[in-house]
Amino acid sequence: MDIIEYLKTNAELIDSALNECLPPEDEYPDIIHKAMRYSVFNGGKRIRPILSLAACETVGGKKEDALMAACAIELIHAYSLVHDDLPAIDNDDFRRGRPSCHKKYGEAMAILAGDALLTHAFYLISKGKNPEQNNRILEDVSYAISTFGMIGGQVADILNENKQPDAPVLQYIHTHKTGALICASVKIGCILGRGTEKELDTLTKYGELIGLAFQIKDDILEIEGEKGKMRNSDEEKSKLTYLSVYGLKESKYQASQLIHKAIHILDEFWGSNTPLYQIAKFIGNREY
Ligand code: IPE
Ligand code: IPE
Ligand code: MG
Ligand code: MG
Repeated sequence: MDIIEYLKTNAELIDSALNECLPPEDEYPDIIHKAMRYSVFNGGKRIRPILSLAACETVGGKKEDALMAACAIELIHAYSLVHDDLPAIDNDDFRRGRPSCHKKYGEAMAILAGDALLTHAFYLISKGKNPEQNNRILEDVSYAISTFGMIGGQVADILNENKQPDAPVLQYIHTHKTGALICASVKIGCILGRGTEKELDTLTKYGELIGLAFQIKDDILEIEGEKGKMRNSDEEKSKLTYLSVYGLKESKYQASQLIHKAIHILDEFWGSNTPLYQIAKFIGNREY
C-alpha cells in the first residue's frame, strides 16, 4: 500500500467531516467560530483521527462508524495546541507556519476557542449511535486527556522547565502529554470497529509504543526539522526533551526501537501490508 496516498485520502475525509460538524463561521458570536475553525483547518496531519479510522478497519469495522469520534479526537488535539501555544504555557507565536490562535484572535478568544473545541468534541461523541460504545469511548478519551493523562503531562512539562535532565520524569511527560491521546485514538477505533478484548489489548500496546515514539520524533524534529525554526527568538525556555537526556543519536535509536516493537506486534496479528503497520513506519520516518 501507498501510505502517503492513504494519509492524504483519509485526511481529506476527516477534513470534510470536520467542516460538517463544526459551527459555521458566521454563526453569532462569529469570532469564536472563526477562531475554532482557524485552529482546526491549518494543515495538521490528522494522524490521530486517521489512527482511529485505521484501527476500526483493522478489526473489521467500517471507518464511517469511527468518523465522528475521530473528528472529536482531532478537536481535542487542536484545543491542546491552542492552549499549549498561549503566553502562559509555551508562548509560541506560530503554529504550523501561521500565527498561533492567540496571535490572530487575542488571548481571551484563544482560551475560549480551546474550551469550545474540547466541549464540542464531547458533544460529537455523545451523538454516536450506540450508547454502550459512547460510554466506553467517553471513559477512555476523558481519562487520556485528564490529569492522569495529557494534562498531567503538560503540568510536568511546565514544572520541569530549566531543570536538570531526569529520565523517569521525561518518560512520564512524553507518555502523558502526547502518548495518551495517540493511544486513545487507536483504542476508540478498535472499540467502534467492535474489536475483541484481545485485539484491544494488542492495539493498546501498539498505541503506547507509537505514542511515545511520536513525541521523541517531535523532539528530534525540533532540532533537525523546520519546526524549531518557527519558534520565538527571545528567551526560549529550556524544556526537558529526549535530546536533553539521551542526546540525538540515542534518541533516534530509541524511537526506532519503539517503532520496531510496534510493527512487530502488528505483524504477528495482521501482517505488514496494513495501514497501522505503515502508519507506525511513517511516524518513525516522518520529517514534519
Ligand atoms: C504536534 O502534533 C504536537 C504534539 C503533541 C507532539 P502533530 O505533529 O500531530 O501536529 P499536527 O496536527 O500534524 O500539526
Ligand atoms: C504539545 O507538546 C503537547 C500538547 C499540546 C498536549 P509540545 O509543546 O512539545 O509540542 P509543540 O512543539 O508545541 O508542537
Ligand atoms: Mg508544550
Ligand atoms: Mg508547544
